[in-house]
Amino acid sequence: MTNIKDVAEKAGVSITTVSHVINKTRYVSDDLCSRVYDAMETLNYRPNTLARSLRSGRSRTIGLVIPDISNLFFAEISRKIEDKGFEYGYSVILCNTDDDREKEKRYIDVLLEKQVDGIIFISAGTEKQNIFKQLEMDIPIVVADRDIPSLTSDVVLIDNHEGGYDATHYLITLNHKRIACITGPSLTTPSALRVEGYKHALKDAGIPIDESLIRQGDFRYESGEICMRDLLNNPEPPTAVFVCNDMMALGAIRAIQEYGKKIPEQISLVGFDNIPLSKTAYPALTTMAQPIGDMAEMAVDLLVDRIQIKQKLKRNHEIEPDFKRMVLKAHLIERESCSVFIQ
Ligand code: RIB
Repeated sequence: MTNIKDVAEKAGVSITTVSHVINKTRYVSDDLCSRVYDAMETLNYRPNTLARSLRSGRSRTIGLVIPDISNLFFAEISRKIEDKGFEYGYSVILCNTDDDREKEKRYIDVLLEKQVDGIIFISAGTEKQNIFKQLEMDIPIVVADRDIPSLTSDVVLIDNHEGGYDATHYLITLNHKRIACITGPSLTTPSALRVEGYKHALKDAGIPIDESLIRQGDFRYESGEICMRDLLNNPEPPTAVFVCNDMMALGAIRAIQEYGKKIPEQISLVGFDNIPLSKTAYPALTTMAQPIGDMAEMAVDLLVDRIQIKQKLKRNHEIEPDFKRMVLKAHLIERESCSVFIQ
């Protein structure tokens, strides 16, 4: 089994230089770096990351906890987080909880055992109970996308109330008055706030809220289909629907087309997220685009900053800087699924 000493000899450099090249802890010239990497390749040497993290107290790994990898919003944000983490020299351990709080808790234990340097956390609900342990372990956490009001940490998310308001207001400007809403799971803050924004826009336009036009989905495709079928069987069906995410909106499109109605001539639809499938749907879906890339990059930036702060605090007992709360905006992307309602 080759070790770092063999690599140093093969490359004709010191063991310290090999260590700096592997850990990126100091500048090393391109020439010396390539000699070290060539030697590692020739000797098939793999650094012992566990030993390294025990020595340095850092694993150069971050955990990412998400609720549903099958939802393209989470696939997209995970990819962007992994890209950004890689730029910083971090590996990312992805944990998919399937919206299951128990699984979420188990995964957090796994990440703690793996000695990750920090966690980016998109929760399955809003209770902080699942991550109270990190508060004891004092591990850096960034809450992304889904707020956890009772948890003090760095946060990056969008203004979901404004997003729901803007989507509904857009339909109102197209002369729609019977506007339905297909919500996400009531336990998640994005959906609850988008529905608040929907109701706020109706109120501002003097349109009474008809609870029979509000159906609760679960952010998955099938629930969009089921809720839309329900709405189509309403004695006074809606002329437009605000759907709280694109996956359900795609399901709603399927239900409308099966029912025999035309989009947008007979019913208009606005989604939320702007996942890649929204533009390839037929008709292409008008949607509220989340700044997924910006959210991902900010989450990693906040986490890396916090990791460095915690490392510094271990060396000197300064006051920890306040946590940051970054609120971004969704913006409307008009495609083919909406048109003016003509009485
Ligand atoms: O599509 C999944 C939804 O849950 C997105 O709107 C995102 O905000 C996440 O919370």
